[in-house]
Amino acid sequence: MATVSELYQARVTSGQLEADPAQRGVLPAMDRVVRDLAMAAPAAPAQPAKSGWLSRLIGGGGAAPAAPAPKGLYLWGGVGRGKSMLMDLIMDAAATPQKRRVHFHEFMQEIQAGLNAARQRGDADAVRPVAQGVARQTRLLCFDEMQITDIADAMIVGRLFQVLLEEGVTIVTTSNRVPEDLYKNGLNRQLFLPFIQLIRDRMDVVELASATDHRQDRTEGGQVWFSPVDSIAQGQMGKLWREETGPAPATPLVLEVKGRKVELPQHVGRVARASFWDLCGKPLGPADYLAVAEAVDVLFLDNIPRLSQSNFNEAKRFVTLIDALYEAKVRLIASGADDPERLYAEGEGAFEFERTASRLREMRDADWGKS
Ligand SMILES: Nc1ncnc2c1ncn2[C@@H]1O[C@H](COP(=O)(O)OP(=O)(O)O)[C@@H](O)[C@H]1O
Ligand SMILES: [Mg+2]
Repeated sequence: MATVSELYQARVTSGQLEADPAQRGVLPAMDRVVRDLAMAAPAAPAQPAKSGWLSRLIGGGGAAPAAPAPKGLYLWGGVGRGKSMLMDLIMDAAATPQKRRVHFHEFMQEIQAGLNAARQRGDADAVRPVAQGVARQTRLLCFDEMQITDIADAMIVGRLFQVLLEEGVTIVTTSNRVPEDLYKNGLNRQLFLPFIQLIRDRMDVVELASATDHRQDRTEGGQVWFSPVDSIAQGQMGKLWREETGPAPATPLVLEVKGRKVELPQHVGRVARASFWDLCGKPLGPADYLAVAEAVDVLFLDNIPRLSQSNFNEAKRFVTLIDALYEAKVRLIASGADDPERLYAEGEGAFEFERTASRLREMRDADWGKS
């Protein structure tokens, strides 16, 4: 099995990646995780029954305590530096078949659903069985984009990680922020601080301080972002819509999500169209946006306004929507008040928005998308 360093070098040699000294600098920490995982005992199989005096003497029968999980990795740095790409290399290099890479939002959704079920069963400590359920199938858990903005997530993530680690799961995560800045200014933040300590104790915290935003290097293709929202933009959006959908009449797309209905005013097959306000002006959440991203290959999004603190909730939903579309590789064709990087220039949340702007820029590439 190749190490992360070897996989990286092979991609540089083949021209798939440009050599980046800062990326090279974090490879040893990644190799260490993969090596420790390979050396860690696999999840203990049941002991074969032995009847010899020695095994009776040493008192077999009781399960051996789980060995502590190999130390994980918390890789942080600015947008476009290659964090997700490097995480993919860890996934490729890890020998265990019990490895899972999942977007943090999506994982927390799954956990919250599990917690609800456990609470309904009346479990006193609901986090433990849910985390144990995950741990049974997973030795290496990779989260891309850990960010904690939701108080419900903030209040359980410490306990969740604690049980996962106790159960021998190694956690690798990427983030735009240094651990100390997670859930910054969040409600009840003091209850969150032990989680930061847990990260420091149980994960190598490594900064990817590359000078290059690799996303900016990519070339732009056909125009899919129109600003400002004027009659020219509207005309071009309309023209592209007709090109994508043909003469077929559009109908509303109604998705059922957890018993709720999420409606996009128009769709033809897997091409759908909605305005910013249809999708971000209503109290929709990650599950709704994941459902939209799953249902379409191309999304036309009209009228993205300039965002600021005064429409913080809409901005936050927009960030979640773009994350879901990005992960699912949905092609986005949009009209907005300004260029992505100037849509949300200041105020609380402007920092998180940099990543969204970077993703929007990448989604404008000609070769972006699943169709
Ligand atoms: N060394 C590199 N050479 C060429 N392209 C790269 C390199 N590192 C990353 N990329 C590309 O740049 C883009 C951004 O990288 P990504 O891993 O998504 O960054 P991050 O997760 O840090 O925002 C991706 O398309 C990725 O494949
Ligand atoms: Mg990334």
